[in-house]
Amino acid sequence: MRLDRSLLDRRQFLDGVMGAGVIGLGATAGETVLGFLTGLEEPEPDHIVLAGPMLETLSQKQYVLAPYGPRPVMVFRLPSGELRALSAVCTHGQCNVRYRPETNDIYCACHQGRFTAEGINVPGTPPPRPLRTFHIRRQDDGTLIVAAEPFEPGPSSNPTDTP
Ligand code: FES
Repeated sequence: MRLDRSLLDRRQFLDGVMGAGVIGLGATAGETVLGFLTGLEEPEPDHIVLAGPMLETLSQKQYVLAPYGPRPVMVFRLPSGELRALSAVCTHGQCNVRYRPETNDIYCACHQGRFTAEGINVPGTPPPRPLRTFHIRRQDDGTLIVAAEPFEPGPSSNPTDTP
């Protein structure tokens, strides 16, 4: 069935769609700005646990990204077998960095920034500061705990607290 007259003409319909889009965009931008100004972003946890698929990815690719509150942390395996955890956010422009096993360094594709495997910014590349370091402890069941603060000395049977 076709109506002879529409309740909305084409112009009104497009105005409505555009208005809804502008309102949605404004709400998203407002939330982002408000969160930035008030510091109301997702809180950072004391620690995270890497298990299951994350550990499989780590063993296959030699590095894995995991959310640590609002920002990702990168856990990777050095050629020596040692595990390391660093912030995956570049200190230059907040892009994500990645570990490169083939060169044993950390690379930021945004402006060709480089860090050593210890997270130290390489002179002559854009990043102005080292990456934030995290600590790792392996549990008896093989899972990894990643924490921003060093672990208390304790009865863990297999500590690999780094760095
Ligand atoms: S954001 Fe990483 S080098 Fe610029």
